[in-house]
Amino acid sequence: MVRAVYPGSFDPLHNGHVDVIRRASRLFDHLTVAVVHNPLKDTGLFTVGERVAIVRETVAGMPEVDVTAFQGLLVAFMRRANATVIVKGLRAISDFEYELQMAHLNRQMNREVETLFVMTATRWSYVSSTRVREIAGLGADVSKLVPPATLRRLRRRFGGRDALEGAATP
Ligand code: PNS
Repeated sequence: MVRAVYPGSFDPLHNGHVDVIRRASRLFDHLTVAVVHNPLKDTGLFTVGERVAIVRETVAGMPEVDVTAFQGLLVAFMRRANATVIVKGLRAISDFEYELQMAHLNRQMNREVETLFVMTATRWSYVSSTRVREIAGLGADVSKLVPPATLRRLRRRFGGRDALEGAATP
């Protein structure tokens, strides 16, 4: 039985993440989406609890996927979860350096762990949580970029109006 973990800050979950979850879930017996506060990205849009709730709602129809939060080192969490594969999404070469460094460090700390990169589908390759937060915060519609569970909470947070509604089309 191969158990994999897809870790991330998911603030908020967007369609690129959902694509990676869906595709990775087909590769392993079990996939845990592990939400963690990343102090290097002190984003703070949603609490970790809210992010877990969003992911849970989104993966409700995927029986081989579960969702949890963790604190501390990922490799320690991997041991507790009895998992051997870390799944990460790659959108572009620009993600690679950051991800490669983490993959090497994680492997140096725990030799049992392998990192597997899933290339995000090209249709979502330009979507990032940072841009979703920015655009939604400025009042524009992000309904094409995020799953319904994220959209509902973004609308609750920022209001439902589309800042571009009624804008003249060039
Ligand atoms: O979605 P993110 O924020 O890019 O994911 C990064 C994350 C959360 C996977 C990474 O910061 C992490 O693993 N954090 C847990 C603490 C840890 O193990 N740090 C050492 C990484 S080499």
